[in-house]
Amino acid sequence: MALQFNFISSMLIILLLTISSAKAQEAGGVGGRGGGDGGVIDVVAKFGAKADEKTDLSKPLLDAWKEACASTSPEKIVIPKGTYFLSTATLDGPCKAPIELQVEGIVKAPADPGAFKEPKWIVFNRIENFKLSGGGVFDGQGTIAYKREGCDKHNFCGSLPINLRFDFLTNAMIQGVTTKDSKQFHVNVLGCKNITFEHFIVSAPGESPNTDGIHIGRSDGVNVLNTEIKTGDDCVSIGDGSKNLVINGVTCGPGHGISIGSLGLFKNEEPVDGVTVKNCTLTNTSNGVRIKSWPGAEPGTCSNIHFEDITVTNVSSPIIIDQKYCPWNKCKINEESKVKLSNISFKNIHGTSALPEAVKIICSATLPCENVELIDIEIMHSGPTGPAVSQCSNVKPKVSGKQNPTACSAPVPANPTSTS
Ligand SMILES: *[C@@H]1O[C@H](CO)[C@@H](O)[C@H](O)[C@H]1NC(C)=O
Ligand SMILES: *[C@@H]1O[C@H](CO)[C@@H](O)[C@H](O)[C@H]1NC(C)=O
Ligand SMILES: *[C@@H]1O[C@H](CO)[C@@H](O)[C@H](O)[C@H]1NC(C)=O
Ligand SMILES: *[C@@H]1O[C@H](CO)[C@@H](O)[C@H](O)[C@H]1NC(C)=O
Ligand SMILES: *[C@@H]1O[C@H](CO)[C@@H](O)[C@H](O)[C@H]1NC(C)=O
Repeated sequence: MALQFNFISSMLIILLLTISSAKAQEAGGVGGRGGGDGGVIDVVAKFGAKADEKTDLSKPLLDAWKEACASTSPEKIVIPKGTYFLSTATLDGPCKAPIELQVEGIVKAPADPGAFKEPKWIVFNRIENFKLSGGGVFDGQGTIAYKREGCDKHNFCGSLPINLRFDFLTNAMIQGVTTKDSKQFHVNVLGCKNITFEHFIVSAPGESPNTDGIHIGRSDGVNVLNTEIKTGDDCVSIGDGSKNLVINGVTCGPGHGISIGSLGLFKNEEPVDGVTVKNCTLTNTSNGVRIKSWPGAEPGTCSNIHFEDITVTNVSSPIIIDQKYCPWNKCKINEESKVKLSNISFKNIHGTSALPEAVKIICSATLPCENVELIDIEIMHSGPTGPAVSQCSNVKPKVSGKQNPTACSAPVPANPTSTS
Protein backbone atom coordinates (compact mmCIF):
# COMPACT_ATOMS: atom_id res chain seq x y z
CA MET A 1 0.00 0.00 0.00
CA ALA A 2 2.66 2.45 1.09
CA LEU A 3 4.74 1.76 -2.00
CA GLN A 4 1.73 2.07 -4.30
CA PHE A 5 0.73 5.41 -2.66
CA ASN A 6 4.25 6.75 -3.06
CA PHE A 7 4.34 5.75 -6.72
CA ILE A 8 1.01 7.40 -7.54
CA SER A 9 1.79 10.61 -5.66
CA SER A 10 5.20 10.97 -7.29
CA MET A 11 3.59 10.50 -10.71
CA LEU A 12 1.10 13.20 -9.77
CA ILE A 13 3.87 15.56 -8.67
CA ILE A 14 5.81 14.99 -11.90
CA LEU A 15 2.64 15.66 -13.90
CA LEU A 16 1.94 18.90 -11.99
CA LEU A 17 5.55 20.05 -12.39
CA THR A 18 5.41 19.39 -16.13
CA ILE A 19 2.20 21.41 -16.53
CA SER A 20 3.46 24.38 -14.51
CA SER A 21 6.81 24.46 -16.31
CA ALA A 22 5.04 24.44 -19.69
CA LYS A 23 2.93 27.39 -18.48
CA ALA A 24 6.06 29.24 -17.36
CA GLN A 25 7.66 28.71 -20.77
CA GLU A 26 4.55 29.98 -22.52
CA ALA A 27 4.57 33.14 -20.39
CA GLY A 28 8.30 33.51 -20.92
CA GLY A 29 7.79 33.23 -24.68
CA VAL A 30 5.36 36.16 -24.72
CA GLY A 31 7.26 38.36 -22.30
CA GLY A 32 10.65 37.47 -23.67
CA ARG A 33 10.65 39.47 -26.88
CA GLY A 34 12.25 42.84 -26.25
CA GLY A 35 12.50 42.06 -22.56
CA GLY A 36 9.06 43.56 -21.83
CA ASP A 37 5.47 43.20 -22.91
CA GLY A 38 4.64 41.76 -26.31
CA GLY A 39 6.31 43.89 -29.00
CA VAL A 40 7.54 46.64 -26.68
CA ILE A 41 11.21 47.56 -26.71
CA ASP A 42 12.46 49.91 -23.99
CA VAL A 43 15.68 51.66 -25.07
CA VAL A 44 16.79 52.07 -21.44
CA ALA A 45 15.97 48.58 -20.15
CA LYS A 46 17.11 46.70 -23.24
CA PHE A 47 19.70 48.84 -24.99
CA GLY A 48 21.33 50.74 -22.16
CA ALA A 49 20.16 54.25 -23.06
CA LYS A 50 20.77 56.73 -20.24
CA ALA A 51 18.59 59.70 -19.33
CA ASP A 52 21.60 61.69 -18.12
CA GLU A 53 21.65 64.41 -20.83
CA LYS A 54 25.13 63.38 -21.96
CA THR A 55 25.24 59.74 -23.04
CA ASP A 56 24.39 59.65 -26.75
CA LEU A 57 21.01 58.04 -27.38
CA SER A 58 22.00 57.41 -30.98
CA LYS A 59 23.33 53.84 -30.69
CA PRO A 60 20.67 52.50 -28.31
CA LEU A 61 17.97 54.02 -30.51
CA LEU A 62 19.43 52.65 -33.74
CA ASP A 63 19.91 49.21 -32.14
CA ALA A 64 16.30 49.20 -30.96
CA TRP A 65 15.16 50.36 -34.39
CA LYS A 66 17.12 47.59 -36.11
CA GLU A 67 15.48 44.94 -33.95
CA ALA A 68 11.97 46.41 -34.21
CA CYS A 69 12.22 47.01 -37.95
CA ALA A 70 13.25 43.41 -38.61
CA SER A 71 10.33 41.95 -36.65
CA THR A 72 7.48 40.43 -38.61
CA SER A 73 4.93 41.52 -36.01
CA PRO A 74 4.12 45.13 -34.94
CA GLU A 75 6.69 46.64 -32.59
CA LYS A 76 6.80 49.65 -30.33
CA ILE A 77 10.02 51.32 -29.20
CA VAL A 78 9.72 53.34 -25.99
CA ILE A 79 11.97 56.20 -24.89
CA PRO A 80 10.83 56.51 -21.26
CA LYS A 81 10.48 59.74 -19.28
CA GLY A 82 13.77 61.53 -18.60
CA THR A 83 16.08 63.87 -20.50
CA TYR A 84 18.36 62.42 -23.16
CA PHE A 85 21.09 63.67 -25.46
CA LEU A 86 20.93 62.60 -29.09
CA SER A 87 23.68 63.57 -31.55
CA THR A 88 21.75 62.55 -34.68
CA ALA A 89 19.75 59.57 -35.94
CA THR A 90 18.36 58.34 -39.24
CA LEU A 91 15.74 55.63 -38.80
CA ASP A 92 15.45 53.80 -42.10
CA GLY A 93 12.78 51.51 -43.43
CA PRO A 94 11.42 49.55 -45.01
CA CYS A 95 10.32 47.56 -41.95
CA LYS A 96 8.67 44.16 -41.97
CA ALA A 97 5.61 45.26 -39.95
CA PRO A 98 4.01 48.42 -38.51
CA ILE A 99 6.35 50.26 -36.18
CA GLU A 100 5.81 52.88 -33.47
CA LEU A 101 8.22 55.15 -31.64
CA GLN A 102 6.75 56.30 -28.36
CA VAL A 103 8.76 59.19 -26.96
CA GLU A 104 7.84 60.03 -23.40
CA GLY A 105 11.07 61.82 -22.54
CA ILE A 106 12.79 64.99 -23.64
CA VAL A 107 15.38 64.43 -26.35
CA LYS A 108 17.95 67.19 -26.77
CA ALA A 109 20.14 67.99 -29.78
CA PRO A 110 23.70 69.31 -29.57
CA ALA A 111 23.42 73.08 -29.03
CA ASP A 112 26.49 73.79 -31.19
CA PRO A 113 25.44 74.24 -34.83
CA GLY A 114 28.97 73.17 -35.84
CA ALA A 115 28.17 69.63 -34.61
CA PHE A 116 26.09 69.11 -37.77
CA LYS A 117 27.53 68.49 -41.21
CA GLU A 118 24.15 68.03 -42.89
CA PRO A 119 20.82 69.83 -42.42
CA LYS A 120 19.20 67.08 -40.37
CA TRP A 121 18.89 65.92 -36.79
CA ILE A 122 16.31 63.11 -36.69
CA VAL A 123 15.16 61.48 -39.93
CA PHE A 124 12.42 58.93 -40.51
CA ASN A 125 12.98 57.47 -43.94
CA ARG A 126 11.00 55.11 -46.23
CA ILE A 127 8.74 53.57 -43.63
CA GLU A 128 5.21 52.24 -44.08
CA ASN A 129 2.69 52.22 -41.23
CA PHE A 130 4.71 54.36 -38.87
CA LYS A 131 3.53 56.08 -35.71
CA LEU A 132 5.31 58.65 -33.56
CA SER A 133 3.65 59.26 -30.21
CA GLY A 134 4.21 59.59 -26.48
CA GLY A 135 3.88 63.25 -25.41
CA GLY A 136 7.66 63.79 -25.49
CA VAL A 137 9.73 66.72 -26.69
CA PHE A 138 12.36 67.04 -29.44
CA ASP A 139 14.46 70.00 -28.35
CA GLY A 140 16.71 71.36 -31.10
CA GLN A 141 18.43 73.78 -28.67
CA GLY A 142 18.51 76.47 -31.34
CA THR A 143 19.39 79.51 -29.23
CA ILE A 144 23.04 79.69 -30.36
CA ALA A 145 22.11 79.01 -34.00
CA TYR A 146 19.53 81.84 -33.97
CA LYS A 147 22.33 84.34 -33.42
CA ARG A 148 23.91 83.27 -36.74
CA GLU A 149 27.29 84.19 -35.33
CA GLY A 150 30.33 83.23 -37.36
CA CYS A 151 28.30 82.37 -40.47
CA ASP A 152 31.04 83.87 -42.62
CA LYS A 153 33.77 81.83 -40.92
CA HIS A 154 32.04 78.46 -40.87
CA ASN A 155 29.81 76.88 -43.43
CA PHE A 156 27.30 75.42 -41.00
CA CYS A 157 24.74 78.22 -41.32
CA GLY A 158 23.59 76.89 -44.69
CA SER A 159 23.31 73.40 -43.28
CA LEU A 160 21.56 74.08 -39.99
CA PRO A 161 19.69 70.95 -38.98
CA ILE A 162 15.94 70.46 -39.33
CA ASN A 163 14.59 68.82 -36.14
CA LEU A 164 12.36 66.17 -37.71
CA ARG A 165 12.44 64.93 -41.29
CA PHE A 166 9.75 62.61 -42.60
CA ASP A 167 10.98 61.33 -45.95
CA PHE A 168 8.97 58.99 -48.20
CA LEU A 169 6.62 57.66 -45.50
CA THR A 170 3.35 55.93 -46.34
CA ASN A 171 0.46 55.80 -43.83
CA ALA A 172 2.06 57.64 -40.95
CA MET A 173 0.63 59.20 -37.80
CA ILE A 174 2.52 61.82 -35.82
CA GLN A 175 0.57 62.33 -32.65
CA GLY A 176 0.98 64.29 -29.44
CA VAL A 177 4.66 65.19 -29.55
CA THR A 178 6.42 68.57 -29.37
CA THR A 179 9.24 70.01 -31.45
CA LYS A 180 10.99 72.89 -29.75
CA ASP A 181 13.64 75.45 -30.77
CA SER A 182 14.75 73.79 -33.99
CA LYS A 183 17.81 75.43 -35.51
CA GLN A 184 16.07 75.55 -38.91
CA PHE A 185 12.61 74.26 -40.07
CA HIS A 186 11.03 72.17 -37.31
CA VAL A 187 9.53 69.59 -39.61
CA ASN A 188 10.11 68.75 -43.26
CA VAL A 189 7.67 66.41 -45.01
CA LEU A 190 8.97 65.09 -48.33
CA GLY A 191 7.60 62.44 -50.66
CA CYS A 192 5.01 61.19 -48.15
CA LYS A 193 1.66 59.56 -48.84
CA ASN A 194 -1.06 59.77 -46.19
CA ILE A 195 0.61 61.31 -43.18
CA THR A 196 -1.29 62.95 -40.31
CA PHE A 197 -0.07 65.33 -37.65
CA GLU A 198 -2.45 65.49 -34.74
CA HIS A 199 -2.17 67.25 -31.37
CA PHE A 200 1.28 68.23 -32.50
CA ILE A 201 3.09 71.21 -30.93
CA VAL A 202 5.73 73.48 -32.44
CA SER A 203 7.39 75.96 -30.13
CA ALA A 204 10.14 78.51 -30.86
CA PRO A 205 10.62 82.24 -30.26
CA GLY A 206 8.94 84.71 -32.64
CA GLU A 207 12.35 86.11 -33.54
CA SER A 208 14.00 82.77 -34.44
CA PRO A 209 14.99 82.92 -38.15
CA ASN A 210 13.84 80.39 -40.77
CA THR A 211 12.13 78.13 -38.23
CA ASP A 212 9.07 77.15 -40.31
CA GLY A 213 6.76 74.90 -38.28
CA ILE A 214 5.80 72.22 -40.78
CA HIS A 215 7.07 72.40 -44.35
CA ILE A 216 5.36 70.09 -46.82
CA GLY A 217 6.55 69.28 -50.33
CA ARG A 218 6.04 66.62 -53.02
CA SER A 219 3.50 64.79 -50.85
CA ASP A 220 -0.02 63.46 -51.34
CA GLY A 221 -2.53 63.33 -48.48
CA VAL A 222 -1.07 65.33 -45.60
CA ASN A 223 -3.32 66.26 -42.68
CA VAL A 224 -2.33 68.75 -40.00
CA LEU A 225 -5.03 68.66 -37.32
CA ASN A 226 -5.49 70.38 -33.95
CA THR A 227 -1.94 71.57 -33.87
CA GLU A 228 -0.42 74.51 -32.01
CA ILE A 229 2.41 76.41 -33.66
CA LYS A 230 4.43 79.28 -32.24
CA THR A 231 7.53 80.06 -34.26
CA GLY A 232 9.65 82.63 -36.10
CA ASP A 233 8.65 81.85 -39.69
CA ASP A 234 5.68 80.26 -41.52
CA CYS A 235 3.61 78.05 -39.21
CA VAL A 236 2.82 75.76 -42.13
CA SER A 237 4.52 76.21 -45.50
CA ILE A 238 3.46 74.28 -48.54
CA GLY A 239 5.89 73.74 -51.37
CA ASP A 240 5.55 72.43 -54.91
CA GLY A 241 4.14 68.97 -55.57
CA SER A 242 1.73 69.10 -52.60
CA LYS A 243 -1.62 67.43 -53.27
CA ASN A 244 -4.69 66.75 -51.15
CA LEU A 245 -3.70 68.60 -48.00
CA VAL A 246 -6.02 69.34 -45.09
CA ILE A 247 -5.01 71.83 -42.42
CA ASN A 248 -7.71 71.96 -39.73
CA GLY A 249 -7.67 73.32 -36.19
CA VAL A 250 -4.23 74.92 -36.35
CA THR A 251 -3.45 77.83 -34.06
CA CYS A 252 -0.58 79.96 -35.30
CA GLY A 253 1.24 82.83 -33.60
CA PRO A 254 3.76 84.19 -33.31
CA GLY A 255 4.77 83.26 -36.84
CA HIS A 256 4.40 84.23 -40.49
CA GLY A 257 1.06 82.49 -41.05
CA ILE A 258 -0.04 79.60 -43.23
CA SER A 259 1.60 79.90 -46.64
CA ILE A 260 1.58 78.20 -49.98
CA GLY A 261 4.91 78.87 -51.64
CA SER A 262 7.05 80.46 -52.38
CA LEU A 263 6.53 78.98 -55.84
CA GLY A 264 8.25 79.60 -59.15
CA LEU A 265 11.82 79.95 -57.96
CA PHE A 266 13.21 76.59 -59.08
CA LYS A 267 13.11 74.59 -62.31
CA ASN A 268 10.69 71.67 -62.72
CA GLU A 269 8.36 72.56 -59.86
CA GLU A 270 5.36 70.23 -59.64
CA PRO A 271 1.77 71.54 -59.33
CA VAL A 272 0.20 72.38 -55.98
CA ASP A 273 -3.30 70.93 -56.23
CA GLY A 274 -5.97 70.61 -53.56
CA VAL A 275 -5.30 72.37 -50.26
CA THR A 276 -8.01 73.04 -47.67
CA VAL A 277 -7.16 75.25 -44.71
CA LYS A 278 -10.11 75.30 -42.32
CA ASN A 279 -11.00 76.28 -38.75
CA CYS A 280 -7.65 77.92 -38.01
CA THR A 281 -6.75 80.79 -35.69
CA LEU A 282 -3.89 83.19 -36.31
CA THR A 283 -2.75 85.70 -33.70
CA ASN A 284 -0.07 88.41 -33.99
CA THR A 285 1.30 86.89 -37.20
CA SER A 286 2.75 88.80 -40.15
CA ASN A 287 0.42 86.98 -42.57
CA GLY A 288 -2.80 85.04 -42.25
CA VAL A 289 -3.44 82.81 -45.24
CA ARG A 290 -1.10 83.40 -48.14
CA ILE A 291 -0.05 82.22 -51.59
CA LYS A 292 3.27 83.60 -52.82
CA SER A 293 5.23 83.24 -56.04
CA TRP A 294 8.36 84.89 -57.42
CA PRO A 295 8.33 87.35 -60.32
CA GLY A 296 10.07 86.06 -63.44
CA ALA A 297 11.91 82.80 -62.91
CA GLU A 298 10.16 79.45 -63.43
CA PRO A 299 6.65 78.28 -64.39
CA GLY A 300 4.23 76.40 -62.16
CA THR A 301 0.58 75.94 -61.22
CA CYS A 302 -1.40 76.19 -58.02
CA SER A 303 -5.09 75.32 -57.99
CA ASN A 304 -8.06 74.21 -55.92
CA ILE A 305 -7.04 76.02 -52.76
CA HIS A 306 -9.69 76.74 -50.13
CA PHE A 307 -9.33 78.84 -47.00
CA GLU A 308 -12.39 78.66 -44.76
CA ASP A 309 -13.45 79.62 -41.21
CA ILE A 310 -10.29 81.49 -40.30
CA THR A 311 -10.01 83.84 -37.31
CA VAL A 312 -7.30 86.48 -37.47
CA THR A 313 -6.31 88.70 -34.54
CA ASN A 314 -3.84 91.52 -35.04
CA VAL A 315 -2.47 89.93 -38.23
CA SER A 316 -0.51 92.25 -40.53
CA SER A 317 -1.72 90.78 -43.87
CA PRO A 318 -4.67 88.45 -43.16
CA ILE A 319 -5.52 87.55 -46.78
CA ILE A 320 -2.73 87.70 -49.29
CA ILE A 321 -1.96 86.40 -52.76
CA ASP A 322 1.43 87.81 -53.65
CA GLN A 323 2.81 87.05 -57.08
CA LYS A 324 5.41 89.77 -56.64
CA TYR A 325 7.03 88.07 -53.70
CA CYS A 326 10.56 89.34 -53.64
CA PRO A 327 12.38 89.30 -50.31
CA TRP A 328 16.05 90.23 -50.12
CA ASN A 329 15.77 91.81 -53.63
CA LYS A 330 16.48 88.38 -55.08
CA CYS A 331 14.38 88.78 -58.24
CA LYS A 332 13.83 90.90 -61.33
CA ILE A 333 10.97 93.00 -60.04
CA ASN A 334 9.85 94.15 -63.48
CA GLU A 335 9.10 90.62 -64.62
CA GLU A 336 5.83 88.82 -64.00
CA SER A 337 5.36 85.53 -62.23
CA LYS A 338 4.95 82.46 -64.44
CA VAL A 339 2.97 80.55 -61.83
CA LYS A 340 -0.69 80.11 -62.78
CA LEU A 341 -3.16 80.39 -59.89
CA SER A 342 -6.75 79.16 -60.27
CA ASN A 343 -9.76 77.99 -58.25
CA ILE A 344 -8.97 79.75 -55.01
CA SER A 345 -11.52 80.64 -52.35
CA PHE A 346 -11.46 82.65 -49.14
CA LYS A 347 -14.60 82.00 -47.11
CA ASN A 348 -15.60 83.29 -43.68
CA ILE A 349 -12.33 84.99 -42.79
CA HIS A 350 -12.86 87.36 -39.89
CA GLY A 351 -11.06 89.33 -37.20
CA THR A 352 -8.63 92.23 -37.03
CA SER A 353 -5.59 93.28 -39.04
CA ALA A 354 -2.51 95.07 -37.73
CA LEU A 355 -2.09 97.00 -41.02
CA PRO A 356 -4.79 98.64 -43.16
CA GLU A 357 -4.10 96.38 -46.19
CA ALA A 358 -6.23 93.50 -44.91
CA VAL A 359 -6.88 91.93 -48.31
CA LYS A 360 -4.21 91.86 -51.02
CA ILE A 361 -4.69 89.84 -54.17
CA ILE A 362 -1.75 90.66 -56.38
CA CYS A 363 -1.67 88.36 -59.40
CA SER A 364 0.59 88.03 -62.43
CA ALA A 365 -0.10 90.30 -65.44
CA THR A 366 0.93 87.59 -67.89
CA LEU A 367 -1.05 84.84 -66.10
CA PRO A 368 -3.93 86.52 -64.24
CA CYS A 369 -5.52 84.56 -61.38
CA GLU A 370 -8.60 82.64 -62.45
CA ASN A 371 -11.69 81.81 -60.46
CA VAL A 372 -10.86 83.52 -57.16
CA GLU A 373 -13.76 83.80 -54.72
CA LEU A 374 -14.22 86.02 -51.68
CA ILE A 375 -17.12 84.94 -49.48
CA ASP A 376 -17.99 86.55 -46.13
CA ILE A 377 -14.90 88.57 -45.35
CA GLU A 378 -14.99 90.71 -42.21
CA ILE A 379 -11.66 92.15 -41.16
CA MET A 380 -11.42 95.32 -39.09
CA HIS A 381 -8.52 97.68 -38.75
CA SER A 382 -8.49 100.71 -36.57
CA GLY A 383 -5.83 103.30 -35.94
CA PRO A 384 -4.30 106.45 -37.37
CA THR A 385 -3.59 104.62 -40.65
CA GLY A 386 -7.32 104.42 -41.37
CA PRO A 387 -9.82 101.60 -41.97
CA ALA A 388 -9.04 98.24 -43.59
CA VAL A 389 -8.65 98.24 -47.37
CA SER A 390 -8.69 95.63 -50.15
CA GLN A 391 -6.28 95.68 -53.11
CA CYS A 392 -6.44 93.61 -56.27
CA SER A 393 -4.40 93.37 -59.43
CA ASN A 394 -4.80 91.08 -62.44
CA VAL A 395 -7.79 89.35 -60.86
CA LYS A 396 -11.57 89.76 -60.93
CA PRO A 397 -12.71 87.93 -57.81
CA LYS A 398 -16.23 86.60 -57.53
CA VAL A 399 -17.65 88.12 -54.34
CA SER A 400 -20.59 87.10 -52.17
CA GLY A 401 -21.80 87.58 -48.61
CA LYS A 402 -20.32 90.26 -46.38
CA GLN A 403 -17.34 92.18 -47.73
CA ASN A 404 -15.59 94.34 -45.21
CA PRO A 405 -13.38 95.88 -46.53
CA THR A 406 -15.17 96.26 -49.88
CA ALA A 407 -13.43 93.92 -52.33
CA CYS A 408 -10.75 95.50 -54.55
CA SER A 409 -11.62 99.05 -53.46
CA ALA A 410 -8.12 100.46 -52.98
CA PRO A 411 -5.28 101.22 -55.42
CA VAL A 412 -2.33 98.86 -55.62
CA PRO A 413 1.14 100.20 -54.83
CA ALA A 414 3.79 99.77 -57.53
CA ASN A 415 6.48 98.17 -55.39
CA PRO A 416 6.68 94.48 -54.66
CA THR A 417 6.56 93.26 -51.08
CA SER A 418 9.86 92.79 -49.38
CA THR A 419 8.79 90.95 -46.26
CA SER A 420 9.54 87.26 -45.98
C1 LIG B 1 -3.73 56.44 -43.71
O1 LIG B 1 -2.85 56.17 -42.64
C2 LIG B 1 -3.52 55.77 -41.44
C3 LIG B 1 -2.43 55.56 -40.40
O2 LIG B 1 -1.96 56.79 -39.98
C4 LIG B 1 -4.30 54.51 -41.68
O3 LIG B 1 -5.02 54.20 -40.51
C5 LIG B 1 -5.28 54.73 -42.82
O4 LIG B 1 -5.92 53.52 -43.11
C6 LIG B 1 -4.52 55.20 -44.05
N1 LIG B 1 -5.47 55.50 -45.11
C7 LIG B 1 -5.41 54.93 -46.28
C8 LIG B 1 -6.44 55.38 -47.28
O5 LIG B 1 -4.57 54.09 -46.58
C1 LIG C 1 -11.53 73.45 -34.80
O1 LIG C 1 -10.24 73.61 -34.21
C2 LIG C 1 -10.19 73.35 -32.83
C3 LIG C 1 -8.73 73.57 -32.39
O2 LIG C 1 -8.35 74.90 -32.60
C4 LIG C 1 -10.59 71.91 -32.55
O3 LIG C 1 -10.60 71.68 -31.17
C5 LIG C 1 -11.97 71.66 -33.13
O4 LIG C 1 -12.28 70.29 -32.99
C6 LIG C 1 -12.01 72.02 -34.61
N1 LIG C 1 -13.38 71.90 -35.11
C7 LIG C 1 -13.71 71.17 -36.16
C8 LIG C 1 -15.18 71.18 -36.53
O5 LIG C 1 -12.91 70.53 -36.82
C1 LIG D 1 -0.15 89.13 -29.10
O1 LIG D 1 0.65 90.25 -28.80
C2 LIG D 1 0.25 90.94 -27.64
C3 LIG D 1 1.09 92.20 -27.54
O2 LIG D 1 2.46 91.92 -27.72
C4 LIG D 1 0.41 90.00 -26.43
O3 LIG D 1 -0.05 90.65 -25.27
C5 LIG D 1 -0.41 88.75 -26.66
O4 LIG D 1 -0.18 87.82 -25.62
C6 LIG D 1 -0.04 88.10 -27.98
N1 LIG D 1 -0.93 86.97 -28.22
C7 LIG D 1 -0.49 85.76 -28.51
C8 LIG D 1 -1.54 84.70 -28.67
O5 LIG D 1 0.70 85.50 -28.68
C1 LIG E 1 0.00 93.48 -32.75
O1 LIG E 1 1.15 92.90 -33.34
C2 LIG E 1 2.28 93.73 -33.32
C3 LIG E 1 3.38 93.01 -34.04
O2 LIG E 1 2.97 92.70 -35.34
C4 LIG E 1 2.65 94.03 -31.88
O3 LIG E 1 3.73 94.93 -31.85
C5 LIG E 1 1.47 94.67 -31.16
O4 LIG E 1 1.78 94.81 -29.81
C6 LIG E 1 0.27 93.77 -31.28
N1 LIG E 1 -0.89 94.45 -30.72
C7 LIG E 1 -1.79 93.81 -29.98
C8 LIG E 1 -2.92 94.64 -29.49
O5 LIG E 1 -1.73 92.61 -29.70
C1 LIG F 1 -11.25 74.51 -61.43
O1 LIG F 1 -12.55 74.12 -61.00
C2 LIG F 1 -13.37 73.68 -62.08
C3 LIG F 1 -14.78 73.49 -61.54
O2 LIG F 1 -14.76 72.92 -60.28
C4 LIG F 1 -12.77 72.41 -62.65
O3 LIG F 1 -13.55 71.95 -63.73
C5 LIG F 1 -11.37 72.72 -63.15
O4 LIG F 1 -10.74 71.52 -63.58
C6 LIG F 1 -10.51 73.32 -62.03
N1 LIG F 1 -9.23 73.74 -62.56
C7 LIG F 1 -8.09 73.17 -62.19
C8 LIG F 1 -6.85 73.73 -62.81
O5 LIG F 1 -8.03 72.23 -61.40
